[in-house]
Amino acid sequence: MAFNIAIDGPAGAGKSTIAKRVAKELSYIYVDTGAMYRAMALYFLRAGIAADDEAAITESCEQITVNLSNEHGEQQVFLNGENVNGFIRTEEVGKMTSAVSVYAPVREKLTQLQREMAQTTDLIMDGRDIGTCVLPDAQVKIYLTASVETRGKRRFLELQEKGAECSLEEICEDIEKRDYRDMTREISPLKQAEDAILVDSSEMSIEEVVAKILEIVRDTKI
Ligand code: DC
Repeated sequence: MAFNIAIDGPAGAGKSTIAKRVAKELSYIYVDTGAMYRAMALYFLRAGIAADDEAAITESCEQITVNLSNEHGEQQVFLNGENVNGFIRTEEVGKMTSAVSVYAPVREKLTQLQREMAQTTDLIMDGRDIGTCVLPDAQVKIYLTASVETRGKRRFLELQEKGAECSLEEICEDIEKRDYRDMTREISPLKQAEDAILVDSSEMSIEEVVAKILEIVRDTKI
């Protein structure tokens, strides 16, 4: 049976940075499920479908295929055969993703794909519902969080580095809105699984969080 590590938590907690490093240390595949939801949101944006048009979203789900591949340790996301890695990280796509990931047909499509991958492959998968819904039997479950202020500052610095104009206050407000939507949606809301270990990274460096998770994995395998 494959060994699965589930990492859930709110936006900006450092899940992908940390999951990538842990995957490298363990020679596991890293699966970023947020990127899969982002690819679907990109499809709806390009098709001019509004986030609240549930009927159109449901109908077009059948026309969407999302695939992943791993190239040089980096996950590549394909939307109907097109590599869309370069298009899914914008704020516009992020907001659309949070809005459309509330719909059952969107979630069912991706959940099925994620479960198939985890059955046969040792992997570390991050998202919002991995420990609670996608992989309830994952051997290790981590709930990685950090305060809104810490997450806002991290995002602010990231955007500044890219030369984008932004306000820390607005970023924090956006984070709070997204947290609220992700945590209160009806289907698979973001929450800590009962058997997940809580890691608060507010006062921790990336190295410290990686070391902590590797220790948890080692303890589980003994
Ligand atoms: O992790 P991220 O910021 O790339 O995720 C973008 C959005 O996708 C997030 O606001 C909620 C949604 N998402 C989800 O509903 N379930 C997942 N497993 C992963 C992401």
